[in-house]
Amino acid sequence: MGKYKIAAIGGDGIGPEVVESGLKCLDAVAKYIGFELLVERFPWGSDYYRAHGQMMPQNALDILSGFDAIYFGAVGDNEIPDDVTLWGLRLVICQGLGLYANVRPAVMLPGVRSPLREELSNKINWVVVRENSEGEYAGVGGRSHRGFAEEIAIDASVFSRVGVERLQRFAFDLARTRSEKHLTCVTKSNAQRFGMVLWDEIFVQLAQEYPDVRTDKVLVDAATARMVLNPSSLDVIVASNLHGDILSDLAAALVGSLGIAASGNLDPSGNNPSMFEPVHGSAPDIVGAGIANPIAAIWSGAMMCAHLGEKAASSRLMAGLVEVAKANEVLTRDLGGAGSTEDVTKATIDALERDDLDLEGFNRIGS
Ligand code: IPM
Ligand code: MN
Repeated sequence: MGKYKIAAIGGDGIGPEVVESGLKCLDAVAKYIGFELLVERFPWGSDYYRAHGQMMPQNALDILSGFDAIYFGAVGDNEIPDDVTLWGLRLVICQGLGLYANVRPAVMLPGVRSPLREELSNKINWVVVRENSEGEYAGVGGRSHRGFAEEIAIDASVFSRVGVERLQRFAFDLARTRSEKHLTCVTKSNAQRFGMVLWDEIFVQLAQEYPDVRTDKVLVDAATARMVLNPSSLDVIVASNLHGDILSDLAAALVGSLGIAASGNLDPSGNNPSMFEPVHGSAPDIVGAGIANPIAAIWSGAMMCAHLGEKAASSRLMAGLVEVAKANEVLTRDLGGAGSTEDVTKATIDALERDDLDLEGFNRIGS
């Protein structure tokens, strides 16, 4: 029987609520399939910062290295500035553990309404592959002459051949496994003449190694319009850290809610534990109300199972979510329902424990 060590970091706001929901579903599916998740919880985040002056202990990355995967909630606080909380936790983990590939699927679940007309929205089946270790989030820059009229602030984007190539290669490999086998490279190389042009060049070079993958390139501004106006013209989208961030929010909104947007921060080499987290933030406005949508966290848990090699568990979790969405009885407020976090959790567990669950339920729409 497989045993996997999972580090659970609920973090801030609704993070702990959705992580606990996801862990219940993960536990249920592990029991059903027959493997074990050895979960250790870490109380890192803004409350930890208030008590200890740092978001997580100095040796946090060493601790995390001993796990098979990290299951993460959210980070962001009303009191502590965002750049402190984010850099103190999530971004340090991604950069420090080399989790360079951020995978963000956006698929229309049955029963969920998109702001788009149905004939457009039912074509949405995308994966945004976002660079997760450098680019606009490299953390290079500075400020000088603080408070003076001549104050300057610089954020430098850093694009390395190694960083861009490994990420794009990951995206090509992923595109190759999907039925459309289509990869779109998003940049802004008309305005940004160095890093983004390097990005485009590497894309053309790599495309030659993947003759079975159909490719195209689009500028990020045009990409937003295309996502709205012609969703079926996209399949896998590969983009820089910032562009991938923005496009994945748009993708989430188009499939109904940020509350269902899942993600994996992957080290494709497998040398370090990958981290799985809902894309939504800490949502301080609804903390403790019991109405946070756990679907993104559960979906991220399904991605974690697939990453750990537990494919049957992953399909079962996703098929369970499809059932819950389709029934449309307990969905949370962000999806137009009146259900609670607990209602969705319970309904998902009930569905995934059914022997007659339609296991192809998600595969038919999501690959
Ligand atoms: C996300 C978030 C983060 C990001 C923030 C919270 C730093 O927006 O995961 O998409 O931009 O990476
Ligand atoms: Mn974002």
